[in-house]
Amino acid sequence: MKSLTSGHLPSKASLSINGGEFQKELKEAVNRRRNFAIISHPDAGKTTLTEKLLLYGGAIQQAGAVKARGEQRKVTSDWMELEKQRGISITSTVLQFDYNDITINLLDTPGHQDFSEDTYRTLAAADNAVMLEDAAKGLEPQTRKLFEVCRLRNIPIFTFINKMDRPGLEPLTLLDEIESELKLATIALNWPIGSGDLFRGVIERQTRDVVLFSRAERGKQSIERRLKLEDPELSNLVEKDLLDKAIEELDLLEEAGAPMDIELIRAGELTPVFFGSAMTNFGVKPFLDSFLDIAQGPVSRIAHDGPVDPLRDTFTGFVFKLQANMDPRHRDRVAFVRVCSGRFEKDMIVCHARTGKNIRLSRPQKIFAKDREVVEDAYPGDVIGLNNPGMFSIGDTLYTGQYTEYEGIPCFSPEIFCWLRNPNPSAFKNFKKGVNELREEGAVQILYDIDQSKRDPILAAVGQLQLEVVQHRLENEYSVETRVEAMGFQVARWVSGGWNSLDEIGRIFNCKTVQDSWQRPVLLFKNKWNLNQLEQDHPGLELSSVAPVVSGVNPITL
Ligand code: G4P
Repeated sequence: MKSLTSGHLPSKASLSINGGEFQKELKEAVNRRRNFAIISHPDAGKTTLTEKLLLYGGAIQQAGAVKARGEQRKVTSDWMELEKQRGISITSTVLQFDYNDITINLLDTPGHQDFSEDTYRTLAAADNAVMLEDAAKGLEPQTRKLFEVCRLRNIPIFTFINKMDRPGLEPLTLLDEIESELKLATIALNWPIGSGDLFRGVIERQTRDVVLFSRAERGKQSIERRLKLEDPELSNLVEKDLLDKAIEELDLLEEAGAPMDIELIRAGELTPVFFGSAMTNFGVKPFLDSFLDIAQGPVSRIAHDGPVDPLRDTFTGFVFKLQANMDPRHRDRVAFVRVCSGRFEKDMIVCHARTGKNIRLSRPQKIFAKDREVVEDAYPGDVIGLNNPGMFSIGDTLYTGQYTEYEGIPCFSPEIFCWLRNPNPSAFKNFKKGVNELREEGAVQILYDIDQSKRDPILAAVGQLQLEVVQHRLENEYSVETRVEAMGFQVARWVSGGWNSLDEIGRIFNCKTVQDSWQRPVLLFKNKWNLNQLEQDHPGLELSSVAPVVSGVNPITL
């Protein structure tokens, strides 16, 4: 039974200032906040761009502090033994910094090739996304996948085309690819003059100023040199043919391109495009300035009874990520909560919507890369880390005041499936505990055979690394050595109509029927071709690549 109101203590805000003043303070805090995540394929330059953004925000003193290299990297990413072994960062972090009176929350996502569901879930907490492309490569697989997740929630997308100092694809080709493949209209806000060795700078669309390319000294903010397009000096600085080509293309865009429309950008239907070079720090500041002008602030989130305004005066938030053993010395578990409305305060007593229990949040943390500090308060758009004694699950809502439960975070379509075997029957208890807890934490999805005699769980992951993490953690945290056995499937689809609609169509071929942790039917296919075949044979069968959201139901356990 859910409690209708939490038994929360009067907040400091309501004790110390009257409602009007509190609303004013909340409104100011909300207006001041912007939150985004970067979506990109490994090597597009996400770390480099992040460094440069932090540099402008004064959050780091020199570039290189985010991703330490070589020996130093080992020290920076010691959260997990596995990270040390592989020299990679698995854990998402949230970076908060101030720039021009705006508090920016940058939700960082794992950059490794074998990315996992964490990356997807982080996007559930983001209000805006920056799509970073390598100019020489254009759209790449990981970017496409992440874009699809943004599209599910119509998140505004800002495109930064990076590495213009290197030979790249034609700028018009890059825009065309976004338009035709992602079905996303584009509006270039600056236009490059040349590329690679011949990269001379950009023409700003709005002012028609030329900003000349210069390489900022490593770790320094760039000094911008700009000239009017009509300035005669330009001919001494930029080759005529390069400038003519850029102007011609820009005129083409003026005639045939989409007009500026902030509403369409905020609806996720039009993406502003910027060309630059993160490494040389060219175009990063103008990008940041425009982004902050156009990006949306913390938006309303959909709860059980409709959208919740961030200006609601009671606190609400949801858990979008759980991380265990972030600091092995403390063996702690952290739940990352996105604040959605009201003001969060340290020591606040909130209600945990799923269980109806009241909890005091006594050690909220702000986490900057590896460092943490205790937060006193937080506002919509911010992310706080809470100590998690095993009580929080992905998607859980916390609230004060009236009962609120946010829509859950969908499970994303896994692409890797394998049996998880426990060769040692005497370790079954630990095996069971580990599998259930890791599922609860969202480390991996667990599916089950519909044949009850086959009790081994099926690990379903979006990235290979998730499997390694699960096995590693089972061994280190639960003392069970496991074996994984590939099943040979690559595609999963949830049957939207449930078991009845499967029964109606009778026997199906070239796929395996399993159940998810909520006993819902899932079909596994060896390849897309088999899936297409089934769709053709049974056009009435509705299939979904994203699991329907569950709320308020307890999953089956091992
Ligand atoms: P990621 O986080 O998206 O995986 O990419 P990261 O920033 O680590 O960048 C990948 C490589 O691309 C790095 O080179 C980085 O220096 C380079 N890079 C990033 N932005 C630009 C750019 O604007 N122009 C050029 N030319 N290169 C860029 P690396 O060789 O892997 O590392 P390093 O030796 O440069 O540190």
